[in-house]
Amino acid sequence: MSVDLDQAAIDLLKRNDRGGYTVPTARLYPYQWNWDSAFCALGFASFDRNRAWQELETLFEGQWDDGMLPHIIFRRDDPDYFPGPTVWQTGTTPPTSGHSQPPVLASIVKRLLDSQESNDEEQRGHTLFPKILAWHRWYHHARDPHNLGLVATMHPWETGRDNSPEWDAAMANIDVADLGDYQRRDLAHSTQDERPRSYDYDRYLTIVKFGRECGWDSNEIAARGPLWVADPGINMILLRADRDLLMLAKQFNETTAASEIETWITNSEAGIDRLWNQQVGGFCALDLRTDKHADGLSNASMLAFYAGAGTSQQQQRMNTELRRISDSVRYLMPSWPATHTAFEARRYWRGPIWAMMNFMLAQGLQESGDTELSQRLRKDTCTLIQQSGFHEYYCPLTGDGCGGDDFSWTAAIWLAWASPAQQHST
Ligand code: DGY
Repeated sequence: MSVDLDQAAIDLLKRNDRGGYTVPTARLYPYQWNWDSAFCALGFASFDRNRAWQELETLFEGQWDDGMLPHIIFRRDDPDYFPGPTVWQTGTTPPTSGHSQPPVLASIVKRLLDSQESNDEEQRGHTLFPKILAWHRWYHHARDPHNLGLVATMHPWETGRDNSPEWDAAMANIDVADLGDYQRRDLAHSTQDERPRSYDYDRYLTIVKFGRECGWDSNEIAARGPLWVADPGINMILLRADRDLLMLAKQFNETTAASEIETWITNSEAGIDRLWNQQVGGFCALDLRTDKHADGLSNASMLAFYAGAGTSQQQQRMNTELRRISDSVRYLMPSWPATHTAFEARRYWRGPIWAMMNFMLAQGLQESGDTELSQRLRKDTCTLIQQSGFHEYYCPLTGDGCGGDDFSWTAAIWLAWASPAQQHST
């Protein structure tokens, strides 16, 4: 069974390969996405090391002069996707979207180098190093202009967790009156009740309109953008990625870079505490315009374990909450607690399980000493894929596959971590 699934995962990655880069899935997402590519590289690494590095190298072809690594590279026009390059109007070559995505890439490079098979890989990692450094620097400056030690996000698409209830209050404040007509394409490829609502799309596009009209100027975005929220996902992933980048800096003898990264880490360790919400017992999204916390714990809140963030007391409290959340679902880890009124079992980031989030969370739990929960996450991910195939996400109550199918990062996570073969080897 799993040998067949191993081969199926390899075939899927090859099928979604568009020549040096991989699409998340055909039709629904027909371009190169930032964090999707990073996870795809992990999958490729299990059978084609060269192709793994290539996935990361092609992604940096879209890097902006200021260091920003965009969330989508539009390599060719595709009528299946909206909003395409003509809506974003970033004026870049190749055409890209106008904001970034969670910076998992440094941690993936570190992982590739930890298992490297030739010196050539060390060289390729070193060539990427200054580009990743520039991207992290961009995050710490453009998204944290007041040096809070907390990076903000301008768009739910930047968080990668588009319709999480974490942004509900901030999104409700966005005035969409001037938006005009548009036509979604995603609903032609996925079921409506598993996708964000039109209400959300109106706001997504209003933010894009703002970005376009200010020429994607980061100062304008920080000062007046319709959304300015600190996401626990991006902040935890960035802190982890900075720690991994620091180890790479030391490995490559990049001493000046190492001190710069150390400063970022110290700042973030302190700044992240502002995300702590004592009422719900964890790190929550914080609307930096209103200074209000979200009122629930997402799977991204739990990435505090992965980032090594928080005091031991805070970690203990989160572990208690995590166990409480686990008790209310059949499979881990729901993107939003099933006991919260905003929970929707099948709607994208309002409940469903995501394999790559499970991968990061399990790693964090293992490192924090909770082997039992870490193993449960891995087993559940394996079971979901065995039962339902390589879906975009899964219902935490039934295990049904939801969203897009034939999904690249799910196949990659299978190959790198969730398959029985991986479970026995690591
Ligand atoms: C989409 O189009 O649904 C994406 O999540 C945007 O990145």
